[in-house]
Amino acid sequence: MINCKSEREIELMRKAGRIVSEALCMAEDLAKSRVTTDTLNTELEKFVIQKGGKPVFKGYRGYPKSICTSINEEIVHGIPSQRILNDGDILSVDIGVEYSNYVADAAITIPIGEISQEMQNLLDVCHESLLKAIGVLRSKVKLSAVSRAIQTYVEAKGFSVVRDYTGHGIGRQMHEEPQIPNFVNNELLKNDKTLLKGMALAIEPMICVGGYATEVLKNNWTVVTKDRKFSAHYEHTVVITDDGADILTK
Ligand code: MF3
Ligand code: CO
Repeated sequence: MINCKSEREIELMRKAGRIVSEALCMAEDLAKSRVTTDTLNTELEKFVIQKGGKPVFKGYRGYPKSICTSINEEIVHGIPSQRILNDGDILSVDIGVEYSNYVADAAITIPIGEISQEMQNLLDVCHESLLKAIGVLRSKVKLSAVSRAIQTYVEAKGFSVVRDYTGHGIGRQMHEEPQIPNFVNNELLKNDKTLLKGMALAIEPMICVGGYATEVLKNNWTVVTKDRKFSAHYEHTVVITDDGADILTK
């Protein structure tokens, strides 16, 4: 069952979303060459708590930090550490915040210093695919239309779409129904769901320069591309309206 949020619930999610987007703006300012990902974690965590929010990743299935920082071939769930960022890196920062019992979740990929044209293109295509997916949303649209919008755009640009991880419904919980794949297959089409006004979704395309096969590192968290080619990740929490969708993490 996919639940629909009331106006009141959406307003609380909007507050959580506001904290998330401000934290990601902070990350953009802080993420520079020579800075460690631990510094980002510390500063964003401080900010979230000061705003009255709770970082929801911390403690989730034993996850040790408040944000995920995934560098280059790391797709998602990179753990902040003493690792130093370098010119030419691409850094995905993912953060989820709970505020008065409601959660918002978003991610961006940040270029560190000068990056290559191909990497800038990877970032732009990933971001644009998220906007395309949000663009098809409105009450009564099929879930598969969202997945298809991402896959079609990304593959036309010559990149691949990760299969092993998906977006998700969101609200009181960080992960609610439905799962939102970034690609279409028979299984999705067979149980295709109709999206309705008030449903809240975290849409999160993860795309790769090379193949979409993934691997989890020995720390049991960090997801990397099998071919170690670079990957990008963007995410927004949105709520469906009659004629479109409202981005809560803009
Ligand atoms: N945006 C990710 C997700 O939706 C973040 C989860 S990271 C974790 O699953 F640390 F909380 F697991
Ligand atoms: Co998410």
